[in-house]
Amino acid sequence: MRNRNKTAMVIGIAVVAAALGLVAPDLARTASQQTEWNALKNGRDIYMTACAACHGGNGRGNSQSSVAFETPLPDFSDCNFTSREGAADWFQIARLGGPVRGFHQMMPAFGEALTDAQLKAAVAHIKRFCAEDKWPDGILNLPKALVTGKAYPEDEYMFTYSMNGGSPWMFEGKFVFEKRIGARHQVEVAIPVVVKELERQKADGTTQTRFGEGVGDIALGYKFNVFHSLKSLTIMSLSTEVILPSGDEADRIGKGFFRIEPFLTLGQLIPALGFLQFQAGAELSTKPNKGAHELFWRGVFGHSFAKGGYGRTWSPMIEVLGAKEMEDDTKIEWQVLPELQVTLNQRQHIRFCLGARIPVTDFDRDNIQYMAYLLWDWFDGGFTDGWRGAL
Ligand code: HEC
Repeated sequence: MRNRNKTAMVIGIAVVAAALGLVAPDLARTASQQTEWNALKNGRDIYMTACAACHGGNGRGNSQSSVAFETPLPDFSDCNFTSREGAADWFQIARLGGPVRGFHQMMPAFGEALTDAQLKAAVAHIKRFCAEDKWPDGILNLPKALVTGKAYPEDEYMFTYSMNGGSPWMFEGKFVFEKRIGARHQVEVAIPVVVKELERQKADGTTQTRFGEGVGDIALGYKFNVFHSLKSLTIMSLSTEVILPSGDEADRIGKGFFRIEPFLTLGQLIPALGFLQFQAGAELSTKPNKGAHELFWRGVFGHSFAKGGYGRTWSPMIEVLGAKEMEDDTKIEWQVLPELQVTLNQRQHIRFCLGARIPVTDFDRDNIQYMAYLLWDWFDGGFTDGWRGAL
């Protein structure tokens, strides 16, 4: 049999087996074919032999009629898609098959047919189908910390919660919508809803507690990725946020004036050790008599662990937060925020994070804020996609 026929046969068997729902399409190989595969070294040759029958020589995916299954094939030449996936994730998909990330089992497991080095070379070849280097690579998309901003441009929905246990009690829920535009831009809207304990002095001198609630100060943001490098594993962006006085000022749910917040964000991967993220900027008040300008700086150190390199990912992080009003006699406010982020599903595009923001300057247990978020990276799939299978 000639090589092409053999490949067609192998894929035929895999497709029939998968269609019957019996096994994931693990490519059945003849001994001579395995010997042939063992000899492959170059990423392109490996790709052409093992992947191109479905993904196409140009990476765009063969037509449904030629592959004889209905699961749509991704277009690896689309930079907007290919750049944002990390090579390590794709290596695991190629090694263990689509279901490891909640994809269809029609994407076979090659872990027995090809060595890790061969699979890494094939994935590196796939990554090269995107020829434009203006797109920051997905490996630089570091876990989001609870407070410190990220440098990577995102397509995300995020629901954040923060509550302070003491008195006066306060709860803030915030809905954040982030939309990436092209390779390097991102726009953002953040809408907070606040419930707050208020104390009122009555005419007879007694105090009475009531609750104030409502939409807080809405923020509109724009982020521009100025630098990214796969060599130094660094990413840097500049952002500006405009904070609107939409919250009720009398109930102190809003500050009552416009603020402009320019800041820089930086992400740095340190192989084997973890990652660092940094954010620094200013909150400029348009009414300095009502609220002073403020400087802030925030740093995160974290590390991601995944069982076997492919299971549920746990990312413990610690943030150090500093802020100071731009007036001579005010001191620096420091806070620390230990937290844990975990991926909830197999696709890893739904994540949860929990932490406690602890004041260091003037420590007061009442002022510890308990924070959490639920994050949905909607570019990677719908909310209910990618949950199937065991982690
Ligand atoms: C039998 C056909 C077939 C072969 C052969 C095949 N794939 Fe796939 N692959 C698929 C299908 C179908 C999907 C889409 C699965 C989905 O969307 O649920 C896919 C998806 C992928 C993805 C996931 C992309 C994403 O959405 O994040 C990667 C990575 C991938 N394939 C790599 C490879 C590599 C590397 C090879 C060769 C070593 C290969 N594939 C060979 C059918 C195949």
